[in-house]
Amino acid sequence: MTDLNKNIQTLRQKKAVAEMGGGEAAIEKQVAMGKLTARERILALLDAHSFHEYDMFVKHDGRDFGMDKKDFPGDGVVTGTGTIFGAPVCIYAQDFTVAGGSLGLQHARKITKIMDHALKMRCPIIGINDSGGARIQEGVQALAGYGEIFYRNTLASGVIPQISLILGPCAGGAVYSPALTDFVFVVENISKMFITGPNVIKTVLGEDISMEDLGGARVHAEITGNAHFYACSEQECFEQIKRLVHFIPWNNTERSKSVPPKEPCVRLNIEDVVPSDPRQPYDVRDVIRCIVDASDFLEVQQLWAANIVVGFGRMHGETVGFVANQPMVLAGVLDCDSSDKAARFIRFCDSFNIPIITLEDMPGYLPGVDQEHAGVIRHGAKVLYAYSEATVPKITVILRKAYGGGYIAMNSRHLGADFMFAWPSAEIAVMGPEGAANIIFRKEIMEAEDEDAMRREKVGEYIEKFANPFVAASKGFIDSVIEPKETRALLLHALEVSVLKEEFRPAKKHGLPPF
Ligand code: HXC
Repeated sequence: MTDLNKNIQTLRQKKAVAEMGGGEAAIEKQVAMGKLTARERILALLDAHSFHEYDMFVKHDGRDFGMDKKDFPGDGVVTGTGTIFGAPVCIYAQDFTVAGGSLGLQHARKITKIMDHALKMRCPIIGINDSGGARIQEGVQALAGYGEIFYRNTLASGVIPQISLILGPCAGGAVYSPALTDFVFVVENISKMFITGPNVIKTVLGEDISMEDLGGARVHAEITGNAHFYACSEQECFEQIKRLVHFIPWNNTERSKSVPPKEPCVRLNIEDVVPSDPRQPYDVRDVIRCIVDASDFLEVQQLWAANIVVGFGRMHGETVGFVANQPMVLAGVLDCDSSDKAARFIRFCDSFNIPIITLEDMPGYLPGVDQEHAGVIRHGAKVLYAYSEATVPKITVILRKAYGGGYIAMNSRHLGADFMFAWPSAEIAVMGPEGAANIIFRKEIMEAEDEDAMRREKVGEYIEKFANPFVAASKGFIDSVIEPKETRALLLHALEVSVLKEEFRPAKKHGLPPF
């Protein structure tokens, strides 16, 4: 055998050992949990034959607690580059079969190296998290490693898309890094996210709780809002990611890729979707499906704060972000969670050059002690901030109710909307007619012989005066009152004439959004 052949043989053997991760028994355990291995995950997500692995032979440098006698292949993380739909991505996947995917300093260095690469190459970074967090045996080295990752997550924020998958029990830093990224994907039965696990809770608080109840996929998709996409299997999760990356640009200096335009294909008539009685609910996603190309809408955070709908669609082949009140849930009010959800989505769209279309039909902010004490002032202000700050094309269509703070918050002219459309059914007022009449005509109503009749009369007067779009249109706050069937055509027009939009803000280091 020549020297070269011998060397190649050695390389292959070393690769084969590294690819076995934590060994057969650990892989069997991983498979028994319904999980793919780290490399299988990467290969399933990226274009076929596109993955190139880096730093396969990196070794940990732990010395304590018997670490010097242990060999952790690749130090428990697989990193590299590849493509999705032919476009570059950087990726890492923690290998739970190696020390529970725990993060030591060298493991962290592999991740920060690929993050730096992604930032330099201006391409998305995808992190597959399956880790017990900071490696306990490495002490402060491990904490340093996470700190360096968080720092890069923050530097990359708004520059390249950052996508996190939670594909195992993830604790501590393994959930804080994802929390700093743009989109978090979880999978039923597989994903768990918590800062402190059930063991710690048992020790400190004496309480028994399962990992699933503490931080399972549904908990984060429905209750906390930490997760943006929920899938029933890893394969479904990978398909969701491919769909998402197809909608978004590769970095903040690019626009999303255009695709061939298509007409909406849903079998619905936009006029019939929205009931004329403002108290009747409907699914605003049907309105979106009547508007977007191929009726194809990718909803983000579908299961959390469902009183607002956010997500991506295409108009004449170009990606747009939708923010829409959902009358089907809590009448579409804004509350703490829906404000957070909308504000974050608006900021993502603004960072990545995605125009925003807002569909409005809501009675205002949710009243009540719970909301006030939960900080609805601070949370609600995030929506005002996010819309005001955004400089991408911003278009609003008022479908029905636009009351009070909600009217201002949902991308009104006053926060810098570029185009304001209203359907003839729009009602723009400080509050609903009933509430308004009860306040401003209280004396007349109380003094009337027939209070109910007087109330009806005054409500009627109020509706006549304010519950329509024409007062706002007469002031120029609404640009056009349009028929529902004109909506798509006018939105296409608005997008077409705003492709070159440029808008500047006062120079500053950064603003202070009401975090
Ligand atoms: C070292 C770890 C580890 C860790 C797991 N392992 N977590 N090794 N450091 N943090 C090892 C286990 O010892 C075990 O090794 C193997 O991984 C599999 O773990 P199991 O416990 O058998 O698996 P499972 O029952 O599925 O439980 C998974 C788990 C649990 C929920 C993640 O292991 C756990 O609670 N780990 C500790 C979580 C934690 O508190 N991490 C520190 C977070 S602090 P063997 O050899 O037996 O197979 C942090 C700092 C950042 O991250 C803070 C950010 C602000």
